[in-house]
Amino acid sequence: MCDVVKLEREDDIAIITINNPPVNALSGRVRRELKDAFLTFQKDKKLLAAVLHGEHEAFSAGVDIHEFCKPTEAPSLPELLAIIDEIEKPVVAAIDGNALGGGLELALACHYRIAHSHAQLGCPEIKLGILPGAGGTQRLPRLIGAEAALNMITSAQFSSAREGGLTGLIDRVVDDNLLPNAKDYARHLLRTHSPIRRLSERKVNTAVLNKDFFEDYREKLANASPGFHAPLAAVDAVEAATKGKFAKGISYERSLFNECLQSEQSRAQRYLFFAQRRAPRVDFLAADTTPLSVRSIGIVGAGKMGQGITTSCLLAGYPVILVDNDSHALDVARTAIEQSLTSLLRRHKLTHKQRDAAFYRLTTSHQLAAVSETELVIEAIQEHADAKRGLFAELLTVLSTSAVIATNTSTLDINILAAGLTSPGQLVGMHFFSPAHLMQLVEVVQGDDTSPTAVATAMAVARSLKKVAVLSGGSDSLIGNRMLSVYSREADALLLEGAGVEQADNAMRQFGMAMGPFQMADLVGLEGGYHARQSRQQRGADNLPVTSPVADKLVEAERKGQRTEAGYYRYEPGSRLPVADAAVENIIASTAAALSIHRAPVDNNTIVRRLTLRLINEACKIIEEGIVQRPSDIDVIWVNGYGFPLFRGGPLCYADSLGLDNVVAELEALERSSGPRWKPSSYLTQAMASRTPLASLDTLPVDGIKRQRRA
Ligand code: 3HC
Repeated sequence: MCDVVKLEREDDIAIITINNPPVNALSGRVRRELKDAFLTFQKDKKLLAAVLHGEHEAFSAGVDIHEFCKPTEAPSLPELLAIIDEIEKPVVAAIDGNALGGGLELALACHYRIAHSHAQLGCPEIKLGILPGAGGTQRLPRLIGAEAALNMITSAQFSSAREGGLTGLIDRVVDDNLLPNAKDYARHLLRTHSPIRRLSERKVNTAVLNKDFFEDYREKLANASPGFHAPLAAVDAVEAATKGKFAKGISYERSLFNECLQSEQSRAQRYLFFAQRRAPRVDFLAADTTPLSVRSIGIVGAGKMGQGITTSCLLAGYPVILVDNDSHALDVARTAIEQSLTSLLRRHKLTHKQRDAAFYRLTTSHQLAAVSETELVIEAIQEHADAKRGLFAELLTVLSTSAVIATNTSTLDINILAAGLTSPGQLVGMHFFSPAHLMQLVEVVQGDDTSPTAVATAMAVARSLKKVAVLSGGSDSLIGNRMLSVYSREADALLLEGAGVEQADNAMRQFGMAMGPFQMADLVGLEGGYHARQSRQQRGADNLPVTSPVADKLVEAERKGQRTEAGYYRYEPGSRLPVADAAVENIIASTAAALSIHRAPVDNNTIVRRLTLRLINEACKIIEEGIVQRPSDIDVIWVNGYGFPLFRGGPLCYADSLGLDNVVAELEALERSSGPRWKPSSYLTQAMASRTPLASLDTLPVDGIKRQRRA
């Protein structure tokens, strides 16, 4: 087995290299070998300074997350960093690629830092439900101040080495030859007799903090990310850095870190970290299946979805040809896309040059033939099966036979859309979420005839757009929307039984959902669901036991959501702020009366319990039917596409935290009191009986995704 850490001598300089691909994670073995290397350096009188760097164009992405569920191997990262901190000769961290989490903490324990300008620095621990646990909350505020440190830790955002240079986090930023420059820097430090700079010996500058700084910060966080424990623990730890000695702060940080690490939230967030990375893998594709090399993308339909998808593709560097037969729609789209790009510029996510280059890559046209040279066309026209089928037939006449057509449908069955096409293998689904340039999720939909190349291409393009891509079987309503459908119908049923619109939304937000069910319905628009229900009923395919009579009545009263300034709420012109509306209460009351439903108060617990149980049970039915590759994909979909709380890990992970015995018992009780829609899925009861957690990253033992054809 080759070493994961190497110590080489270059005259009086020690070069210590971490080599643990792919991201130089600080596993137990890396920590052990780093300790040996630094102790050797310390003892060797001929070595006067050390440069620490990483192979694979990376410094380190932090502690190995796999090891969090095992007992910590010695030395722990704080123990290793204490050794480096105390060395009496200068240690320079040379940062290339990423210095994240424990990787950044390692760099902070070194006495000086030099970085390549493209390097990324950050504290992503919060995303794993923990806080920096190897001195990050103590050294960082001592270096860049408490506020900047807290911003970095609680946002989990990466900053560039250039920004690091400005804040004092990095001492020198170079554009090339990092390692030679780092060695020169070490020699310069020796020549100039520069002191050993230990952050552990500094004090945090508290003079710049107002007296309520930490209280205000906690309040701000509680509003911005309600329900998350780790960010608040990070504030406690940074506050401790401003008050006491370094050693005391380190030990307090460690106790908070261990507490967070053991929490249900961290368990859920770490599971999601791996689930998101597993989701884009299509395990049943033959090893030699290669995605098309996509050089440019055609997008048909210049409405809101088309605009968002276009913006996403432009940002990823693709030239885009946006086609619509309505020239006014194209003009509106150009303006909207330019505005989206400019808003990213204003938020410092793009430079002027990047914004201009992205916009320059956009071409618009009225002619479908304009996309004939593209390898991928994404359809984003209205949700009408006939219109889409007509478009696909026409596209097949202008595109090459190897090109891929991706439909953005969210409600139509891809098999119905593919029926009758001369080359159905070229059709795949790519369901983006609105606004498509901001939402993370893309559901890639495989129909009965979709070719492996089309699936691989859609997955690869989605990833290149920096989206979380998940594969779904070609069933009506896909995975996420199928669950949304039962969730919305249950929410509608709760209204009829006596729950209030605002009450239900508040209850679900307190549970941690980004939005309540009715706010979300208004945002998305009620028409899509209405047409989907009508279409299923007409096809005799609506086998869902509860319909959405309130939603239907709202649409029939022209209350179609935010777009019409009225839905479950009303909206002032130009405002997205939901305002409770007595007219809706009247619609609910009269619908309930017409259905002879007696309305009585419903408590918040019942609302949360019923809505989440429906999600869990439907997720299990989806697994049972084999239209998802692995259970964790469902959690990835609901966290990234529907605002399910990250700290609960998704509906299946949440079910595990409740205990499957309890989940099944509750469903059975509801089945007895309220009928068969609550019958526990057999997948769920089997998982309970075999004591197998629902939240699993394992691919299900089916031969590819089983295709579901509905009537
Ligand atoms: N531990 C273990 N595995 C890691 C890892 C880590 N810290 N970081 C990344 N990986 C693995 C991924 O799981 C993936 O493995 P796979 O190929 O088997 O799926 C592989 O490395 C490549 O990762 P990505 O697919 O994410 O590659 P990208 O190039 O898209 O992104 C990255 C690279 C920016 C480094 C991203 O992986 C990332 O953000 N990693 C997490 C970093 C992090 O959270 N660090 C903090 C760890 S906790 C800590 O350090 C605690 C300390 O404070 C005590």
